[in-house]
Amino acid sequence: MDHAHEIARRRTFAIISHPDAGKTTLTEKLLLYGGALHMAGAVKSRKATRHAISDWMSIEQERGISITSSVLQFDHEGYRLNLLDTPGHADFSEDTYRTLAAVDGAVMLIDVAKGVEDRTKRLFEVCRLRNMPIITFVNKMDRPGRDPIDLMDEVQKLLKIGVVPLNWPIGQGSEFIGVLDRLTMNVHVYEKVDAGAAVATEKIAPLHSDEAKRLLGDRWAEVNESAELIEAAGDPWSVEAFLKGQVTPFFFGSAMSNFGVAPLLRAIEALMPKPLPRETVQGERRPEDADFAAFVFKIQANMNPKHRDRIAFMRVVSGKFERGMEVRLARTGKTLRMNKPHTFLAAERSIVEEAVPGDIVGLYDPGELRIGDTLSTGAPVVFQGIPRFAPEFFARVRLKDPMRRKQLQDGLMQLSQEGTVQLFFREGLGAADPYLGAVGMLQFEVLKVRLEQEYNVKVELETSRYTAARWIGGAASGRDWLDGRSDFAVVTDRDGRPVVLAETGWSLQYATQEAKGLILYDVSPLGGPES
Ligand code: G4P
Repeated sequence: MDHAHEIARRRTFAIISHPDAGKTTLTEKLLLYGGALHMAGAVKSRKATRHAISDWMSIEQERGISITSSVLQFDHEGYRLNLLDTPGHADFSEDTYRTLAAVDGAVMLIDVAKGVEDRTKRLFEVCRLRNMPIITFVNKMDRPGRDPIDLMDEVQKLLKIGVVPLNWPIGQGSEFIGVLDRLTMNVHVYEKVDAGAAVATEKIAPLHSDEAKRLLGDRWAEVNESAELIEAAGDPWSVEAFLKGQVTPFFFGSAMSNFGVAPLLRAIEALMPKPLPRETVQGERRPEDADFAAFVFKIQANMNPKHRDRIAFMRVVSGKFERGMEVRLARTGKTLRMNKPHTFLAAERSIVEEAVPGDIVGLYDPGELRIGDTLSTGAPVVFQGIPRFAPEFFARVRLKDPMRRKQLQDGLMQLSQEGTVQLFFREGLGAADPYLGAVGMLQFEVLKVRLEQEYNVKVELETSRYTAARWIGGAASGRDWLDGRSDFAVVTDRDGRPVVLAETGWSLQYATQEAKGLILYDVSPLGGPES
């Protein structure tokens, strides 16, 4: 295996979108093009089951939303793509944030009729925190929708990013037949395949060729006009600006009918960066570095309820991963043997023998690993931690059967390590009686169901009067001020970091004005892993 070549052909990315924009459909189609699915689950047949190949947990199947993020690896035209699925539901933004820490770029999916939606905006902002390159795919072109120029304006204004159409739709709605590629000036014309279940036939011809005139017929003149239009539309194209997250190239298509999916896939391969370096406390770690290093970005327990297994997902950053190798866990200094590493195609797991930077490896974990952990060989390194977001919803647990306190405590601990909820402890209250914090209400529901299904613990959740939390920093006098007030609760997170719970966001503002030297943070302080 030529290591440098293997790294260079990796593309590790995620798709971000508002629910219903077509992420599941597009994911299936990318897999179809990658030969990973011979027949993409035809959209019609999905209607009955209402879940995609990337859905694992029964709870998400029932709800028809993706709660967990899954990892899919497939090959296409010499490239190896790692697609990390992100939950579309707003209540799982923490999970999404962590997943985005493990990719090098994102595809932003927009419904042509709806444009930039709430969730698109929030997810985009998470990508912006890392200046991540983003390719925009305008989906559902087979339906009546908005004018492409209008959509580009909206993205530019609402998301404050430059836009460049790298292809342009030929027709729209039922007249949508293909795209014009701006860089090559080729037209790509598609033939409809029944329910988009197989790869669509793509005919490619230079715009100024007889072949294109034949393919487009009367519409050739119109496409020729749009060739001038796209030159003038949006910002100038610059790969450099794209890689810095300053401009996003636009692609148009229909995931359902597969039109425009191949150009998107080729753009992901040609434009998205190969695996990028990551910051560590000891300096930058590059993919070419000889020593192996990886960080854990996601932990999922009990993926198979029969086996009660727990899997930690790590992103390889440098060196080479080999099955059976021994690595050092930075947080504890312990040596771990990588015995049963896995790659994933949804429910199908296969043992991985080797992995290179950009790859995601799943490890069976007996409870040793935490989100943000560093695993490495050679000189010790520690990746910058993955921060936690301040929760916006709070609850207390009421246990129905007091005999199951121990199980409750175990369940809470494990599920919080996965990031299902955050736990906050208050002096005088036991470890089984923490405040629970979540970024979305649905996280509490999932917690309740999982406690029952996986730990056989029935609980009621009582909403709490608190609505905001901040990590406490700055001078000690600030914390003393908070301690002396009855309208705030000073608690500690799992790592013992002090956190203030407040009844209103306004009261937090008041606190920072009144308490000398007090600094409040809405993401947990960086440095070191979560534990
Ligand atoms: P999501 O994962 O982003 O939530 O979206 P998903 O792929 O489930 O797609 C949401 C709906 O949009 C589905 O219809 C899907 O068939 C439809 N869709 C996706 N891509 C396209 C497209 O390119 N063109 C058109 N016309 N529709 C598209 P549904 O009725 O909600 O579900 P189903 O009954 O078809 O499964």
